[in-house]
Amino acid sequence: MTKISRPVHLQYKNIVKSYGKGKHTKLILDHVELEIKGGECTLITGKNGSGKSTLLRIIGGLLAPNKATIETGLLTLNWNKYRKLINNQVMYLYQEPYMFDGTVRKNLSYALHKDQPKEAVDQALKWAELEHRSNTQAKFLSGGERQRVALAQAWLKQPAVLLLDEPTANMDTKSRRRTEDLLSTFKESGTALYIASHDPNHFHRIMNHRLLLEEGRIIQSDTDLLDDSAENTNDTKSTNNNVTVLSQKNN
Ligand SMILES: Nc1ncnc2c1ncn2[C@@H]1O[C@H](COP(=O)(O)OP(=O)(O)OP(=O)(O)O)[C@@H](O)[C@H]1O
Ligand SMILES: [Mg+2]
Repeated sequence: MTKISRPVHLQYKNIVKSYGKGKHTKLILDHVELEIKGGECTLITGKNGSGKSTLLRIIGGLLAPNKATIETGLLTLNWNKYRKLINNQVMYLYQEPYMFDGTVRKNLSYALHKDQPKEAVDQALKWAELEHRSNTQAKFLSGGERQRVALAQAWLKQPAVLLLDEPTANMDTKSRRRTEDLLSTFKESGTALYIASHDPNHFHRIMNHRLLLEEGRIIQSDTDLLDDSAENTNDTKSTNNNVTVLSQKNN
């Protein structure tokens, strides 16, 4: 099967997702449209229950939408075809990454591609500053360390798109900054980052776009945030004024 070419430029159109049946149907995503570009970081924010994880799982090929069209530049696909095409190229990282029994090193070795040398695990440990943890049972790691193991696994796989669901939810500022530094190396290598976080002020050091999901729609989009974030390096950057309304369907 053809791979999607890097750097990616994927356009998602008319994503609709509801849960439940009959009178219990709950519409979560109501014709959401978005695009993903290699080397760029997008933050998707919204209240608890607004549908951020649902959206990321659909993009990650893990959850079927009711409806969606995806344009890859060469092809226009429905979600089933898209899911088959993306294979390992779009990777979704859970808020609480699952660790297998065994050491951190062992957990990383599962992420190795058959053509990759075993030494790549050492490089990944170094990259994520986890060398001192290499022989620790992965299940005993703290939440922040697990996230770094998951990022090191992603680093070994080098996906074209990396989807992160609340990757720093329980981290202190120092750990969050370390995670941001690791994420910026993905951006530099051309990976597209898509991060779900209920806090719109997180990740401003690395984000290019910020979307707000509300009542099933992307109601606000701040673009090119990185340009002015260089002057604003604290953790309380105010909302950008450059607001574009992307979707204003009123059914
Ligand atoms: N499998 C499911 N069956 C029924 N309802 C679901 C299911 N998964 C999610 N929901 C509902 O869909 C809505 C959106 O959930 P989702 O987890 O996508 O929100 P979220 O924005 O990620 O929230 P949070 O900030 O708490 O992580 C919620 O009301 C949730 O209860
Ligand atoms: Mg969520």
